[in-house]
Amino acid sequence: MGASLYEPINVYKPIGPHIGIVDGPFEYLTVSGVRLPLPFTTRMTVVCLTNGDLFLHSPIKFNGVLGHELQRLGTVRHLVSPNQFHYAHIAEWSKAFPDGITWASQHVRQRARARHIDVTFTRDLDVDAPEEWRRDMDQTLFPGGYFKEFIFFHKASKTLILTDTIINIELNKMPEPWRTATKLTGMHYPRGQIFFGMRLPLLLQRRKAKAALAKVHSWRPERVLLSHGRCFESHGDEVIKRIFGGPPIESKAGNSAGPR
Ligand SMILES: [Fe+2]
Repeated sequence: MGASLYEPINVYKPIGPHIGIVDGPFEYLTVSGVRLPLPFTTRMTVVCLTNGDLFLHSPIKFNGVLGHELQRLGTVRHLVSPNQFHYAHIAEWSKAFPDGITWASQHVRQRARARHIDVTFTRDLDVDAPEEWRRDMDQTLFPGGYFKEFIFFHKASKTLILTDTIINIELNKMPEPWRTATKLTGMHYPRGQIFFGMRLPLLLQRRKAKAALAKVHSWRPERVLLSHGRCFESHGDEVIKRIFGGPPIESKAGNSAGPR
């Protein structure tokens, strides 16, 4: 069996109040400019902010029909790179929506420059949510060394929005030998797991991880959206406890030891 997508792709799929996902086409990992024969699926999350603006998390490859469809939901405003690996299509969206604000994750500018990807970021994400979406969403920086990423929480739908922090690949959607390799990492449906590249950095950055997790636990998410694999549609807080452990007893969300 070969690789398969989350059909239909390039259409907005509502998953809760004022929030939806758009599954995208295959992407391929490139190493040193060489494209590996490993197709993987990608997913964009769209949040409809109460001011009428749209927040596009990890935009998938631009598609004109999709862009038109999204305009019916609101104004395409925030084009967000949550980590330095998810940014490749932001320039396409920015060109189609020149009034959009492009938001940089840490080190993404350097990575884009090194790969000759022409993209301009106008703002930088921070540990705390900016004025633009603070009313609707919270956020934090989840440590993971090279793989650190900004994670978001949509309040109205109690949805945690992750990129690569948890991977939950459906093995029957992957071709061999990648299927066996993924199985060995544990990063597969139905339980998912922390992205393997983050595991050692998380051990080395325990204090930052603890602070970020305290914030995540305080949100008590109902569902967890992922960029790769099957999302967790219910009991999100239980998923987080199972994968990362329960909330630290002495920590409180937003304490001053927050990750930077
Ligand atoms: Fe990714």
